[in-house]
Amino acid sequence: MSIIQAQHIMLNDPSHVRVAFEPKYEHGSAFINGTYVDLDHAAIPMSDLGFMQADAAYDVVSVSKGFLFRLEDHLERFENACAKFRLRNPYTRTETADILNNLVKQAGTKEAYVWWAVTRGHMPDGSERKNPLAYDNCFYAFVVPYLFIADDEQRTRGIDLMVSQKYIRIPPESVDPTAKNFHWMDLKLALFEAGDNKADWSVLCDANGNLTEAPGSNIFLIKDGALYTPDSGCLEGITRKTTLELAKEIGMPIFVETVHVEQLRNADEAFLTSTAGGIMPVNTVDGKVLGGKAGPGELATKLHNLYWTKRWDGWLGTEVDYSQPAKV
Ligand SMILES: Cc1ncc(COP(=O)(O)O)c(C=O)c1O
Repeated sequence: MSIIQAQHIMLNDPSHVRVAFEPKYEHGSAFINGTYVDLDHAAIPMSDLGFMQADAAYDVVSVSKGFLFRLEDHLERFENACAKFRLRNPYTRTETADILNNLVKQAGTKEAYVWWAVTRGHMPDGSERKNPLAYDNCFYAFVVPYLFIADDEQRTRGIDLMVSQKYIRIPPESVDPTAKNFHWMDLKLALFEAGDNKADWSVLCDANGNLTEAPGSNIFLIKDGALYTPDSGCLEGITRKTTLELAKEIGMPIFVETVHVEQLRNADEAFLTSTAGGIMPVNTVDGKVLGGKAGPGELATKLHNLYWTKRWDGWLGTEVDYSQPAKV
C-alpha cells in the first residue's frame, strides 16, 4: 500500500478545487470582533492582551472536499479551553459555527484551514485587572487554503524526526496543554532546533523523558502491531482522537499511557497527527530508521489512507453549502 497523495488530490481533483470567490478573498477571509473582512485587511488592536501576553484560547478545524471535519468536537474543545482560562466567547456555539461557515463560503475554499480565537482583550483599569469579568474578551477568526505540516513528498518518504535535546514541553502545572493556547515558544524553538540539525520536525519530552507532543501535532508509535500515545502533557488532538477510533476499527491494540522516549527510539513505526496534515508517518528518529526499513510503515500508511478516504466520504463532516451566499 502506498501513501495517498492527498495534497495532489486536494489541489487538482474537481470535487476538491475552490469554488468561485470574490478576488479580494484570494488569500482568505477573516472576522475581526464582529466585522467580516478580507484577510489582507484583517488586523488586531496592538493592546489586545492576546497579542501582548499570549492571553487567549484558540482552535483550528479543517475543511476537505467541502466538509468541516468534526466541527462539534472542535467547538466543544474550544469551550473547555475558554472555561479553563476564564475567557468568555462573546458568541454562542451556534453563532461561532455560523461565523466559521460564512468565512469558508466567502473564501470559496473546499480545502481550508479554519482558525479562531478568543483573547482577553484590553487591560481594564487598576484593581479591576484581578477580575476576569472586567475584561471585554474579543473574538477573531480567519480561513485560508489548507495548510500541510508535511506535504505529499514528506509524507511519502516519512518525516525525519528529532527528539529535542534543548527543550522540554511546558509542564501541565504551568499551562494546561489540553486547553489549546498561544504558549508556543518551546515548540517553536524545538522546531528551529530540528532545522539546525537537518531534521524535518521535532518532538518534546517532559522533565522525566516521557513523550509529550510535537510542534502543532501529537505523537504516536507502533510496536508489535500495537498503538501507543501519551495520555498527558499534550493537547487532546482531534486528529489524535480520530486516529484512536481508526486504529480500533482496524483491530489494533491501543495504549494511551505514559510513553518513554526510548520506546519511540525502539518503535517499529511512528507518526504525528494534526488538523494541519492529518496522519504524518515518521521515517527516522534522531537519524535511526524505524523498523529497519526506510519510509512510512505499513500500519501508519493504512491509517493515513483511511483517514483521508473516510473524510472524503463525508465521515463526521458538516457539509458547507457553497450555493448559498454567506450571511454576513
Ligand atoms: C500543541 C499541539 N498539539 C497537538 C495538536 C494537534 O491537534 P489537532 O489534531 O486537534 O489539530 C496541535 C494542533 O495545532 C497543537 O497545536
